[in-house]
Amino acid sequence: MSVWAKHKVFEKNSLVLLVGILVAVAIGGLVEIAPLFYLKSTIEAVQGVRPYTPLELAGRNIYLREGCYNCHSQMIRPLRDEVERYGHYSLAAESMYDHPFQWGSKRTGPDLGRVGGKYSDEWQRAHLVNPRAVAPASIMPGYPFLATTALDYEHIADDMNAQATVGVPYTPEMIAKAKGDVLAQAANDDPGAADLAKRYPKALARDFDGNPSEVTEMDALVAYLQVLGTMVDFKTYDDKANVR
Ligand code: HEC
Repeated sequence: MSVWAKHKVFEKNSLVLLVGILVAVAIGGLVEIAPLFYLKSTIEAVQGVRPYTPLELAGRNIYLREGCYNCHSQMIRPLRDEVERYGHYSLAAESMYDHPFQWGSKRTGPDLGRVGGKYSDEWQRAHLVNPRAVAPASIMPGYPFLATTALDYEHIADDMNAQATVGVPYTPEMIAKAKGDVLAQAANDDPGAADLAKRYPKALARDFDGNPSEVTEMDALVAYLQVLGTMVDFKTYDDKANVR
């Protein structure tokens, strides 16, 4: 029987063909999926990535609440145009403590994966209050109420607890000191800020909203925006590697 004659068996019997397809797909699936069960993690560890401070986490919650992800992605792809516009492409490790991740699926506005440090706090505030004030043709909505709404961080420790349950390495000390850390970071009051830096290396502590008399939602959101994409020091990595 020639090989063609053998193949006729499949072509003439739909059931045999179906079983054949199932066997072929099962082998393919096993080869692709089985190794994942033996790997501890598919994320390469990268130096510098740390959990968000309580203030940054609160800012991230505002980012979610306001739906910023509907217009902004946080995932720079390893393509030359993206890397030239936004900086080093995003690493998996950079969003390993993001639950849920904020990669996004639509870019009405630019990618925010590395917006931290790109602008001053003043620019961020002016832009959030009224985007047209700094980007005249912007279609982004304004969020002026952030500057006048006191930040509700009553339950931030519970939030950190929940994040710890899904694998973010918040220690009991971090959770116990959460509320104090919010104040220390937003007001930059030593020794609170120095103590904060011990738990969250390189955390920026300052009056993000320019209003020293209260901790507002603006403080939290700007603190979050200013840390995005800044945790990894890319001077220690080969910038151009893997850029197609
Ligand atoms: C309707 C879509 C839309 C929404 C919602 C939106 N933005 Fe934007 N955003 C834009 C557009 C368009 C731009 C580019 C023009 C500009 O700078 O305003 C932009 C620009 C930005 C920039 C400047 C980025 C850069 O690299 O220049 C930041 C930061 C930003 N948005 C943050 C936010 C945050 C935080 C929120 C949620 C509170 C948000 N945006 C919600 C559309 C949006």
